[in-house]
Amino acid sequence: MVHEDKIQALLEKDAEAELGGGQDRIDVQHKKGKWTARERIHQLLDQESFEETGKFVHHQCTDLGLDKKRFPGDGVVTGYGRINGRPVYVFAQDFTILGGSLSLAVSEKICKVMDLARKNGAPLIALNDSGGARIQEGVSSLAGYGNIFMQNVLSSGVIPQISAIMGPCAGGAVYSPALTDFIFMVEKTSYMFITGPQVIKSVTHEEVTAEKLGGALTHNATSGVAHFSGKDDQEVLGMIRDLLSFLPQNYREKPPFVEPTDDPRRIDIGLREVVPESPRQPYDMRRIIESVVDDHYLFEVQARCAPNIIIGFGRLNGHVVGVVANQPSFLAGCLDINASIKGARFVRFCDCFNIPLITFCDVPGFLPGTAQEYGGIIKHGAKLIYAYCEAVVPKITVITRKAYGGAYIVMSSKHLWGDINYAYPTAEIAVMGPEGAVNIVFRKEIGAAEDPEKKKAEMVEEYRNIFASPYRAAERGYIDEIISPEFTRPKLISALESLKNKQDSMPMRKHDNLPL
Ligand code: HXC
Repeated sequence: MVHEDKIQALLEKDAEAELGGGQDRIDVQHKKGKWTARERIHQLLDQESFEETGKFVHHQCTDLGLDKKRFPGDGVVTGYGRINGRPVYVFAQDFTILGGSLSLAVSEKICKVMDLARKNGAPLIALNDSGGARIQEGVSSLAGYGNIFMQNVLSSGVIPQISAIMGPCAGGAVYSPALTDFIFMVEKTSYMFITGPQVIKSVTHEEVTAEKLGGALTHNATSGVAHFSGKDDQEVLGMIRDLLSFLPQNYREKPPFVEPTDDPRRIDIGLREVVPESPRQPYDMRRIIESVVDDHYLFEVQARCAPNIIIGFGRLNGHVVGVVANQPSFLAGCLDINASIKGARFVRFCDCFNIPLITFCDVPGFLPGTAQEYGGIIKHGAKLIYAYCEAVVPKITVITRKAYGGAYIVMSSKHLWGDINYAYPTAEIAVMGPEGAVNIVFRKEIGAAEDPEKKKAEMVEEYRNIFASPYRAAERGYIDEIISPEFTRPKLISALESLKNKQDSMPMRKHDNLPL
């Protein structure tokens, strides 16, 4: 057979590259409950769709004995393939090769697929498992990180960028993920930190475990750095596939339509019972959201961070929507710093990628207190205002109960150019709640009354009758329609249908100046 020796040599080289850092290191990786870079890619992508690039690239460093540690492909596997039939670009750091550390060669491979992803308008998925800058390569490695950060920013808002943290990610290895749209973490085997526990101990004498410092729970529930977590590699990779089913390939496209099986006219009479009689009583906003979306399915984002606001993706009659909702069962649904940041980033993502926004509002205001003021609630709350103002995708709002003060304005009100604004008959649209308002406006009258408690109750009742309803707002056109709750789904679907050709844009400028 012609060229048999050359074909044989290629097969051998291929097989060597497939082994990454060698079988022993693969075994160690498996013992830790982690998959190898190639196993992860194969699990992530549609079967047999992966095409690898740069399999034989290796680093050029000869310092500190690195000339004796050369592996084909170096510390990353790169290429492209398909997810649910749609093209994606992917890179997976290979921890079996020098701890997945980033050499200049590794960064060049990564930048190459990032470039291809952006130019071809397809999502980029980064599977991270890396000890950070390759120490032996010094400044070349740092340069590599800089190049990746540039690519992340060039692609921001052009294509969806998704990161999974699937091992220890330290130093530079955390900042590229932080520049992407969504971060997934694997519980118990992944960490993200700028500096690890040992450095912290030597600098500040603080003792902390890697898990507590930068594990999946920490970043999902406390810092808000991550958006999702899964119990193992398999679960996380499956979640990435699910997330992509809601996203368009790039900013020029609409998100994928799925032929609906759920009745668009479906009503839910039980929704009449969800908002309690007493305005002080909490309820679960998920009950309303899940009743309304197709097949009752909400793909929730950042579920464990700032539970006072719910964000996630769903479908209405087959069309993808981004849902933002106050959650009265946590902190009464107040907007605080974390909720504002969480909501703002999500609204901006949806606007980048043509995903209409459905907002459910039951908000008593911004959370008061020194902790919030000192933490900068003013500038963080402004982010949510800003995000809703600049969003030009269809914006549909349902006020279920409280819509007080600045928080009413923020939650996609007509005043921030909400397109269609609904309210339930139970909505209370006012500057503040009745008790607070009466205490300020009628303090003297109440104090001078023979029976101040009785007087106060009367004033509260009067205030409630006038302001604690949606009718004043409807009279002024700030509410388009007051709807009975059972019709929420069909109403939202027809509103969305009416807005499907919406065209709007912000003025031309170099770039905006979002409050940070
Ligand atoms: C070179 C590295 C490396 C690195 C790990 N290795 N990190 N080689 N550069 N950054 C190598 C180890 O020497 C070892 O090689 C192999 O990878 C596996 O590492 P282990 O330590 O045996 O694994 P483990 O015990 O699981 O610990 C993983 C780890 C730890 C937590 C990631 O290796 C670690 O702390 N690494 C350093 C993290 C760090 O500080 N990175 C630099 C960040 S500074 P052998 O051959 O011995 O098996 C940075 C600046 C960028 O990134 C800034 C840009 C803005």
